[in-house]
Amino acid sequence: MAYCLQSRYIAAMQPPLSDEQAQAKIVDIAQTFSPNAPVSTRDLFAGRIDQLLKVINAVYQRGQHVIIYGERGVGKTSLANIISPALRSKAIVARQNCNQLTTFPSLWHNVLRQITQCSEHPEIGFTSDTRKMVHTMDSKLGERVTPEDIRHIFSALPKAVLVFDELDRIADEDTKTLMADTIKSLSDHSVDTTVVLVGVADSVDNLIAAHQSVERALVQVHMPRMSVAELYEIVDRGLSGLDMSIDASARTLIADLSQGLPHYTHLLALHSSQRAVLQGKLHVTHDDVIAAMERAVTDAQQSIISSYHQATNSPRANLFPQVLLACALAPTDTLGYFSAADVRNPMRVITGKDYNIPAFAQHLKEFCEMERGPILERTGYPRRYRFRFVNPLMEPYVIMNGVATGLIKDTNAIGGRVAQKELY
Ligand SMILES: Nc1ncnc2c1ncn2[C@@H]1O[C@H](COP(=O)(O)OP(=O)(O)OP(=O)(O)O)[C@@H](O)[C@H]1O
Ligand SMILES: [Mg+2]
Repeated sequence: MAYCLQSRYIAAMQPPLSDEQAQAKIVDIAQTFSPNAPVSTRDLFAGRIDQLLKVINAVYQRGQHVIIYGERGVGKTSLANIISPALRSKAIVARQNCNQLTTFPSLWHNVLRQITQCSEHPEIGFTSDTRKMVHTMDSKLGERVTPEDIRHIFSALPKAVLVFDELDRIADEDTKTLMADTIKSLSDHSVDTTVVLVGVADSVDNLIAAHQSVERALVQVHMPRMSVAELYEIVDRGLSGLDMSIDASARTLIADLSQGLPHYTHLLALHSSQRAVLQGKLHVTHDDVIAAMERAVTDAQQSIISSYHQATNSPRANLFPQVLLACALAPTDTLGYFSAADVRNPMRVITGKDYNIPAFAQHLKEFCEMERGPILERTGYPRRYRFRFVNPLMEPYVIMNGVATGLIKDTNAIGGRVAQKELY
């Protein structure tokens, strides 16, 4: 409440913006809220204290390595970005993104190309002068690269932290095995190098399947969806750096619509604060967020829009849009799964009617089939199936679309779901 009163007070005190001031502010806002780029500076990085501590502590324990894993878009790369500047004064830091074509030699050539070493050579002739030569460490590698080659190179170097992002994109199984062997070898020989692996996965097993021997050497850092408090922090940090403020209800709506995914917090904060400035205000209201949400729905990635249409399209009037929306509002476990029974209550909120599970079981089944995407995936056994969205970024879109098209009349219905999620 104090927050709300204070922000209203600030808003009332502000003189209207001139055109130049508004233009400059619009640019500042675009630099502050970046829905599509990981955070790279500490001042814009919100929350994640536990995860940060885990990573930093592991980096300073010899023989320990780190694996950061979680759903797509929860902030894994941002966490890895944030630790790098703090470490740079104390260690060699190299970062490498993996992709489908990554092989073990290509990965290490790319990492070692980022590390330089200086050597001194005597000048030719009768002189005591020496010549300094700088070379990149990949010159130490041949075409064939083994885990032992890597261990030897890093044993001779000062402390190093090596971040491998998008690990899940490596298609070559041999590369995964060799990476696991390298970590094991660095760990067993107590080399002062920390490997930080980052990837999309439900569990560490998914990322290093069949390489259990390495599990003991890895500190596992699970990135869950962000809590409401962390999402608030993103909004507050951003707006305070911009000398702007926001109504408490508008901030709550941004957090509720984001469903724990910071991408949407940035997106809604970006559009709502720019809208406020365009109207000559430095204060964001509930209406600004609703307008930002409508914009987010129309401007969503084409792949998200077409997946939604593919999933809900039908020549006859049916419940596909309502059932999909109820799925997006259903309470989930930590891995994003919900049961058919979890869909009943949101169905009641959306339609005002009581539907039994058989009334929408066929819809759930079809959402898991190719013809409708599949937009959902299913696990478990008949009568005990659990479902979740294949692409987590789809859930907030479905909800925002539901509000924008009037399927949800009361935005408070969304907040209930977030509160329920936090119980897990
Ligand atoms: N701690 C944070 N504070 C503020 N914003 C964040 C934070 N973490 C992530 N974000 C924002 O959320 C969005 C997604 O972040 P990021 O790219 O780091 O996620 P990711 O898990 O690496 O995604 P992907 O699985 O697609 O690689 C970005 O807009 C980023 O700026
Ligand atoms: Mg990432």
